[in-house]
Amino acid sequence: MSLYARLAGKGPSGFGYGSTAEEVTEGLSLAGKTILVTGCNSGLGHEALRVLTKRGARVVGTARTLDKAKAACATVQGDTIPLACELADPASVRACVAAVKAAGLRLDAIICNAGIMALPKLQQAHGYELQFFTNHIGHFILVTGLLDQLTDDGRVVMLSSAAHNMAPKGGIQFDNLSGATGYRDWTQYGQSKMANLLFAKELARRFAGTKKTANAVHPGVIQTNLGRHMNPIAQFFFGLSDKIALKSIPQGAATEVYVAVHPAAAGISGAYFADCNVAKSRADADDAALARKLWQVSEEIVAKLP
Ligand SMILES: NC(=O)c1ccc[n+]([C@@H]2O[C@H](COP(=O)([O-])OP(=O)(O)OC[C@H]3O[C@@H](n4cnc5c(N)ncnc54)[C@H](OP(=O)(O)O)[C@@H]3O)[C@@H](O)[C@H]2O)c1
Repeated sequence: MSLYARLAGKGPSGFGYGSTAEEVTEGLSLAGKTILVTGCNSGLGHEALRVLTKRGARVVGTARTLDKAKAACATVQGDTIPLACELADPASVRACVAAVKAAGLRLDAIICNAGIMALPKLQQAHGYELQFFTNHIGHFILVTGLLDQLTDDGRVVMLSSAAHNMAPKGGIQFDNLSGATGYRDWTQYGQSKMANLLFAKELARRFAGTKKTANAVHPGVIQTNLGRHMNPIAQFFFGLSDKIALKSIPQGAATEVYVAVHPAAAGISGAYFADCNVAKSRADADDAALARKLWQVSEEIVAKLP
């Protein structure tokens, strides 16, 4: 455990910076629950898959390819359903939605965990900046496609990040979603994580009057494959700080797992969590008009995709 995790305290939930996914599910039986986790083959998603199945849940584990999903699911003992879901390929996401529907699965939670970070150069999918497309649009297609599969008290958990604070002024550059008129690696990553946060907030508003919830989480800062695009010097310092301050992968997976399954989180919706507790996000993440606009623009984008 890092030095900081040893010193950090616990919040009102009884959990905190140093809590692990196993600790936040200690004593819970998730038998009978079905939970979909995107990006189940690496980092936090794989830890979520491991711990959720250990507690008895059936996990629909998605990865970019069926082979990756199968290989990840084969590493755990519990009940799993591996599916392909390449978030940058709308046809793959729609096929994933169709497979869940065809199997008649009712989902107790959807954890939108997969993501990419800080691509050094502009990359695009279908004409849109790749982090925005993968992290937000891919998950937008998935979640909106699966809304009817959610149980009456189903939970949607969006992996945002404290990096949403790096989003451009105004939150989302609607006039530059291609990235073509200005690209900065962390700004565009921040924008995609702001989009994840705004999507959770708008979905929560749409769930009002039901027992369904939607929340966003910052998992902490954890050394995973997410840093693969960082330059070697940054990776070196990232590695050093791992020992002092960063969370471990079991600690990093705790918040998404807590929000997805812990009974104490059942009535909380439209919130931003960090360290397994409700936290404060950037002010414009609470701008309902901005969130509504993002939803509407996302629908328009998706309607034109192949
Ligand atoms: N680690 C951190 O410090 C940190 C901090 C804040 C937020 N987060 C968020 O936490 C989430 C999990 O990140 P992690 O740290 O566990 O990273 P990771 O180890 O790199 O895992 C990311 C997962 O997303 C998948 N993925 C990437 N692009 C995809 C695509 N186009 N379609 C489908 N799946 C795709 C990856 O698949 P492949 O392995 O096939 O590429 C992998 O399974 C991300 O949303 C990230 O933004 C992480």
